[in-house]
Amino acid sequence: MKNVIITGASRGIGLATAKKFLTEGWQVIGTYNQTKIPLENSNLKTIKFDQGSPNSIRQTIEQIKTEYSQIDVLVNNAAILIDVEDETVTLRKIRQTFEVDLFGLIDFTERLLPLFKKGSHIINIDSGYGSFSSPIDNKTSTSYRMAKAALNMYTRTLAFRLKKQGILVSSLDPGWVQTDMGNVVASETEKPDRIPDQPANEIFNLAVNPIESGQFWREGKIREW
Ligand SMILES: NC(=O)c1ccc[n+]([C@@H]2O[C@H](COP(=O)([O-])OP(=O)(O)OC[C@H]3O[C@@H](n4cnc5c(N)ncnc54)[C@H](OP(=O)(O)O)[C@@H]3O)[C@@H](O)[C@H]2O)c1
Repeated sequence: MKNVIITGASRGIGLATAKKFLTEGWQVIGTYNQTKIPLENSNLKTIKFDQGSPNSIRQTIEQIKTEYSQIDVLVNNAAILIDVEDETVTLRKIRQTFEVDLFGLIDFTERLLPLFKKGSHIINIDSGYGSFSSPIDNKTSTSYRMAKAALNMYTRTLAFRLKKQGILVSSLDPGWVQTDMGNVVASETEKPDRIPDQPANEIFNLAVNPIESGQFWREGKIREW
């Protein structure tokens, strides 16, 4: 049975992705931070994990390594968005956002690298907010945009590093999705146009189909960085 680690599987896109992989018969290792994962399935293993805590990252990796010798897919989905409306930039929020959305994600991924084999796939959930080709036409979200932009470059450099080993690395933009995070950006007139099942299917399809490594995906197609 193939296995997948999905961080932030308690809500939103991560939860929908966990459901999709379980439906397809995969073993799912789902992490949550505050909210328990509202699923019961013998193929689901849940781990409490705080991506902003180096201790929690170390402990989670130890737990995974004692139970699994190989990981087929990692979906780096967990993230925070805490500066949507901010007109001013504070280093505190940049640090907090980077700690979870970037540094924690990188630490977690790098410590897991020995478990990836030829054909394994690391999928980093990025955002149009982290894209240089997308206009900034609504909310500022400076910390979040910067963290996601840097995450895209991590995808590219990691794909380059892992090329010889045949390990794939991708960024995926889920679009604007009806989740707690997506709804924070909504207004009276503009609401998210996607439901979590849509990116969940796209993440699954990316995971199971052979693709070119080191690319940025949206709705099943390569998009501009
Ligand atoms: N929704 C959108 O429109 C949209 C658009 C572009 C990109 N994205 C990206 O898609 C991904 C999922 O977003 P979403 O909308 O599903 O978000 P969400 O509904 O806010 O869910 C966030 C998930 O991340 C987990 N999480 C938060 N802080 C964490 C921490 N410190 N350590 C570990 N886990 C943590 C949460 O766990 P708890 O429930 O336990 O707190 C939750 O499972 C994110 O990477 C986001 O940036 C979303």
